[in-house]
Amino acid sequence: RIPQCVCVRGEFLLLLINFPYLRSTVRPPHIVFILADDLGWYDVGYHSSEIRTPNLDKLSAQGVRLENYYVQPVCTPSRNQLMTGRYQIHTGMQHQIIWPCQPYCVPLDEKLLPQLLKEAGYGTHMVGKWHLGMYKKDCLPTRRGFDTYFGYLTGSEDYFTHERCYDIAPLNLTRCALDLRDGEEVAAAYKGDYSTELFSQRAVSVIKKHNSSKPLFLYVALQAVHSPLQVPERYLAPYSFIEDRHRRLYAGMVSAMDEAVGNISLALQQEGLWDNTVLVFSTDNGGQTVYAGSNWPLRGRKLSLWEGGVRAVGFVAGPLLEKPGTVSRELIHISDWLPTLVGLAGGSTGGTKPLDGFNVWKTISKGFASPRQELLHNIDPLYSDLAPSEKNVSLRGDICHTPVKGNADSSSPDRWAKFGFNVSIHAAIRSSNWKLLTGYPGCEVWFPRPGYNGSDSGVPKLGPLKPIMLFDVEKDPEERNEVSAQFPDVVDYLLTRLQEHQKTALPINYPDDDPQCDPGPTGAWGPWA
Ligand SMILES: *[C@@H]1O[C@H](CO)[C@@H](O)[C@H](O)[C@H]1NC(C)=O
Ligand SMILES: *[C@@H]1O[C@H](CO)[C@@H](O)[C@H](O)[C@H]1NC(C)=O
Ligand SMILES: *[C@@H]1O[C@H](CO)[C@@H](O)[C@H](O)[C@H]1NC(C)=O
Repeated sequence: RIPQCVCVRGEFLLLLINFPYLRSTVRPPHIVFILADDLGWYDVGYHSSEIRTPNLDKLSAQGVRLENYYVQPVCTPSRNQLMTGRYQIHTGMQHQIIWPCQPYCVPLDEKLLPQLLKEAGYGTHMVGKWHLGMYKKDCLPTRRGFDTYFGYLTGSEDYFTHERCYDIAPLNLTRCALDLRDGEEVAAAYKGDYSTELFSQRAVSVIKKHNSSKPLFLYVALQAVHSPLQVPERYLAPYSFIEDRHRRLYAGMVSAMDEAVGNISLALQQEGLWDNTVLVFSTDNGGQTVYAGSNWPLRGRKLSLWEGGVRAVGFVAGPLLEKPGTVSRELIHISDWLPTLVGLAGGSTGGTKPLDGFNVWKTISKGFASPRQELLHNIDPLYSDLAPSEKNVSLRGDICHTPVKGNADSSSPDRWAKFGFNVSIHAAIRSSNWKLLTGYPGCEVWFPRPGYNGSDSGVPKLGPLKPIMLFDVEKDPEERNEVSAQFPDVVDYLLTRLQEHQKTALPINYPDDDPQCDPGPTGAWGPWA
């Protein structure tokens, strides 16, 4: 019989089984996901930066640049949503990051992206930063879907020694210890190797060892370009024109990262995988201006819910895109990758908890409208700005306002009560062109373009922040014109939506440090429970 292609997934598979000649034509693609750390909006060549990223520019020019693409404002949350396809409020991880001694991880009843791809027949490999919890072995990447792992479990280490220093509060001591593992074993032999090169070499070796008859999932979570600002001298040579020493170091780090991406894509080509590869590049959050990142001209930075914290550099590359060489301005979020990639893999998301992400493949590949109309940036009742301490602050003005106190618009104190949402809470939500922020969103400054030498500081004078702010981020991506007074209906609607989301939130899980985490003077950070 002639098959009617009403392609519910199960039926489609049945068709493939009945028509073996079709089977060979549908090969699940290799999926390579490269996540940069703290790369800012203004820190790629194709956003007119003074930093040169020829590989990112070229790959994205031949692929699809995502210019209305969002991530979470900080590390663990973005990675959490990438791996689960679910908002932070649904895993109890809406507050901050996982610190080295906190005894928790992404809940073990969450099914992660690599598990789903493994079920779909993929070989799954991870290189780089995990940061999704490691207090017990069940939390490790190798126990959560990755066949192999090479990388570090926490964050902020030294690029050469691979040590992480952390103040263990209950022990009243600062411990510096190694954080690098090959599989589950401590990897002590790489002292002195610059991590951007180390991780790209490992990624290349995974690609070279891979038997291409099996689909590959490779997740490369680079250390670059997170602080500390460290880079081998040779990457600095092109940047002698940058006067600010921190920005110069940072630019060199970006160049090393760009070279890593170039090396990985070259290996895919050399090994004959590229023709059937989907490569995704994304940052995990906005740039950290304190460490010379830049999100110009966007407002705010890493750790804030302003566009500078959450609007991300991202693109998709590879020959499977049906409209290569285009720019997507459709709303896409990091939680969308799980359903998108599992869909591409021909896998099933049936085993997950209810997803907050959407399958956006047709949006990316064919330019269709995004299925995503709304985006919950976060709701975090415990928020406080994690601005680094004064001694680390660069010369660039660090002049964030202090948080707004009070939970109501003083002109009409009862105005917001009916929505049941406490507007002193740090939260933000996007719906089509509108973005509503409540509470203190984090550092609210428009940091000037790097190298700006104007007579004024380049930083506009700021009025006091309001507990409720509304922006039309399509027309006003820099969040300069606060319009809540002009659009009260939009405000009402979005406050209602925030309250509806908040009702579905799990209680925050953010335990105290466990002193048993201490690896001792010669140990390495790792599972202790
Ligand atoms: C922590 O150690 C410092 C330096 O040894 C000491 O001055 C301080 O009193 C200690 N604090 C506590 C709470 O034990
Ligand atoms: C990229 O590959 C070249 C050639 O093998 C190597 O010299 C360079 O160190 C690699 N760069 C990175 C960042 O791994
Ligand atoms: C790759 O895998 C296929 C299928 O399992 C096998 O037939 C083939 O020998 C493998 N190739 C190599 C080089 O191992």
